[in-house]
Amino acid sequence: MSLKIKRDVHEYGKEILKCEKYQALDTFIQHGNISCKKHSIRVAHISLSINRFLKLNCNEKSLVRGALLHDYFLYDWHIKEKWHNWHGFRHPKIAMKNAIRDFAVTELEQDIIKKHMWPLTIIPPRRRESWIVSIADKYCSTMETIKGLYNAV
Ligand SMILES: [Fe+2]
Ligand SMILES: [Fe+2]
Repeated sequence: MSLKIKRDVHEYGKEILKCEKYQALDTFIQHGNISCKKHSIRVAHISLSINRFLKLNCNEKSLVRGALLHDYFLYDWHIKEKWHNWHGFRHPKIAMKNAIRDFAVTELEQDIIKKHMWPLTIIPPRRRESWIVSIADKYCSTMETIKGLYNAV
């Protein structure tokens, strides 16, 4: 990942990345041995790269903020608990509610968070920023899972 992409993600996302509450994502594993925070930052890097490579002219600040908060559900989904059953379907809404509570997320940023699991969540993304984060998330999740399986052998 280029230094410019990393720097810009840090700049656009600084309010979130510096927030004390956001650091909790470091304590939850997302895929393999990758924390939720690391995963979310990777999704932001890939999303910004896609936007620039394909010259899609997205709202870059919202793209990065939505990516950083797309999995802001704040629990360990590997531990079975009734209130977060059906994690795959329900966590986008939980993450969106948490993001609204802790950050001044815009309507576009909310859409990015809410739609990132499409097609599991039925309503498709309408904004190109939401499509990009959804694709970047699938790419990162797949790579992290494969690497995790590979490391486990
Ligand atoms: Fe997710
Ligand atoms: Fe994710």
